[in-house]
Order: sequence, then C-alpha cells, then structure tokens
Amino acid sequence: MSGFPFEPYNALSDDACQARISAARQKLGQDVTLLCHHYQRSDIYQHADLTGDSLKLSRLAAETDATHIVFCGVHFMAEVADILSRPEQRVILPDLAAGCSMADMANLAKVERSWRELASLCPVEETFTPVTYINSAADLKAFCGRHGGIVCTSSNAATIARWAFAQRPKVLFFPDQHLGRWTGHNMGISLDEMPVWDPDLPLGGLSEEAVAKAKVLLWKGHCAVHQMFQKRHIDAFRARCPEGRVIAHPECNFEVCAAADAVGSTEYIVKTIKEAKAPGHWQVGTELNLVERLAREVAPEGKVVEFMSDLVCMCSTMQRIDPQHLAWVLENLVERVVVNPIVVPGHEAKEAKQSLERMLRIS
Ligand code: 13P
Ligand code: SF4
Repeated sequence: MSGFPFEPYNALSDDACQARISAARQKLGQDVTLLCHHYQRSDIYQHADLTGDSLKLSRLAAETDATHIVFCGVHFMAEVADILSRPEQRVILPDLAAGCSMADMANLAKVERSWRELASLCPVEETFTPVTYINSAADLKAFCGRHGGIVCTSSNAATIARWAFAQRPKVLFFPDQHLGRWTGHNMGISLDEMPVWDPDLPLGGLSEEAVAKAKVLLWKGHCAVHQMFQKRHIDAFRARCPEGRVIAHPECNFEVCAAADAVGSTEYIVKTIKEAKAPGHWQVGTELNLVERLAREVAPEGKVVEFMSDLVCMCSTMQRIDPQHLAWVLENLVERVVVNPIVVPGHEAKEAKQSLERMLRIS
C-alpha cells in the first residue's frame, strides 16, 4: 500500500491538523508512542507521550513496547531509537529533512582519514579512545563501536570521558568541540592540551608535537544555534539582575559555560528550574522553543525565565516537525502504512549498538 501523499496536508491549517492528530492517536491507541525532544514546537510537544533530552529519549526508546515509535526530534535521535528498539518495532521521523547541522560536520570518510593520520604517528588503537557525541550519524557510532570507543550525550559527558581515559591516554572527540572542551576542562585538562582538529587540513592543521602533547583532540564542529549566546549577554543580565541565575547548555562556547552558574542538558535545564524552591529570575542559554515553553509553565510560581540572546535562535531542523507532517504520518499509520521509517542498516546498527550500550551501561 502506498498511503496518502503529503501534498494535501500542506494546505491544512495548524488547527485542522491538531484535531486530526488527536483523532488518529485515539484510533492507534497503545500501538504508537510519541517521543518528543524538548526543542519541539509546543503544538507538537503537547501530543508527546514522553519527553526528554537525548539520553533520556534513547533509554525510553529502548524500553517502550509500542509497535511504532513516532520520533519528534531530529534524524540522529530517530536512528538511535531504531538501533535500541526491538527489530519488529518501527521508528518514524515525520519529516526526513529534520537533520542536525552539527552532526553533519563530521562524516565517516573524514573520521577514518583522521584516524589513519593519527595511526601514522602512534599506535592509534592503544593511544586514542574515539568518543562521539550522540549528535552524529549512526556510521560514526559504529566507528566508535569498532574501535573501542563510545557515545556520550550532554548529560553524561563527564562520566563517559572518565571511562574513555581509563581505556587509553588520549581522546578523539567529535563532532562538538564545545562540549568536548567544557568536559575536558572540568576534568582539569588545560585548554592548550585540547587543540582543535580541523579535518579538512593535513594532520588536523596541527604539528606532530601538538598532537603528541594533546590529551583531547577536539573536532572542528559546533552547533550554530548555541553560538548565538555570548558572554556579554550574561554580563548584561547580571548587571540588570544581580540575584538572577544563569544556566547554559554545554554546546555553548567556553566563555559562556564558564560564566554560567550551571551547565547541563536540556532535561537538566528544565528540571533545575521547575524544581527550584524559590521564585527567582533565570537566564537560559539554549533553544528558544524550550525556553519560551518553560517560561510559560513556571510563570504561575513567580519564576521568571528569559532567553540569553537578543536574537531569535531556533533550531530550524527541529522546527521541521510540524502539525502537517505529524498528521500525515499518523493518518497513514491508521491505514497500516509506515511513511518515513528510519532503518539503520544491520551491520552498522550492530556496531553502533555496541558503543551506545557501553554508554548506557556506565551512565
Ligand atoms: P540534549 O541531549 O541536552 O537534549 O541536547 C540535544 C541537542 O541537540 C542540543 O542542541
Ligand atoms: Fe543540532 Fe544544534 Fe539543532 Fe541541537 S540545536 S539538534 S545541536 S543543530
């Protein structure tokens, strides 16, 4: 069966889609679970069965019994759900164009070339533990599985880094230099022992001496959304609101993380502010959908939450999951048609699962 095409859904209003989403969900019952990342727009988030950061969502995907997992997030998250769920379960990403621009900054060809270059300098398999941020394609998780490496998320990076250093004396960390730097700094590693590895230059743009001295090689990758937050935003907030607290995601740059009162994953940010005993004033450095929703939810308790940047910074790929796409995949499911399935090829899934399971075991 080919199912309904998407085009007619484009003409539907958001409101019309809401009613159709609810009706389809009712028909599907326990057959479907909707997992939703905190950056999703509110008109999607309101339909979630379960919400979380990347670590929590990967655990939830491994635990759910539903035959169909509709993943409202980005591509790498849906891949993780496919790898960790049972073979008979199907993972659906409502819009296949919902990628992650940071994840795209590393690819297998570049990582393998970098690994070969390092192998020309040292016994690489005994010297470097490859660590990939979960924001990466499944084939990079498979690379880590094959080479004794591991996956980390924004909420377990410190634990994972300790594990990585217990295996081998150095770490190759990709693709987010900022998470890698912040994590290494918190372990007492100096900034000059964590040079940036530019995969487009021979030997990452480094000298042999710099590689020999390095404890962590930080892949030249970043999240454009989180680079919109600057230390001057924190300084201005503190001048205006000296009692206020600042909380940032570790994808922010080093100066922002160092100036914040707390740094953590999206789940940590949501939990910290919701569970704070006193009404207070917060400045938050992460994606706008999360911050605006959180601000609305905690306002009745007298908590004030403001966005760190003076610019609008949303994750445009997370935004691609809209009511039109959600209505489309759910109504197709009612007809027993799976559109936009995410299926990681078997050999890749097997090796990627090794590095993901290592992570889940120790975090
Ligand atoms: P979390 O795991 O903290 O939700 O982060 C995912 C992400 O993509 C942040 O930009
Ligand atoms: Fe990727 Fe940045 Fe969007 Fe997170 S906010 S999904 S890191 S592009």
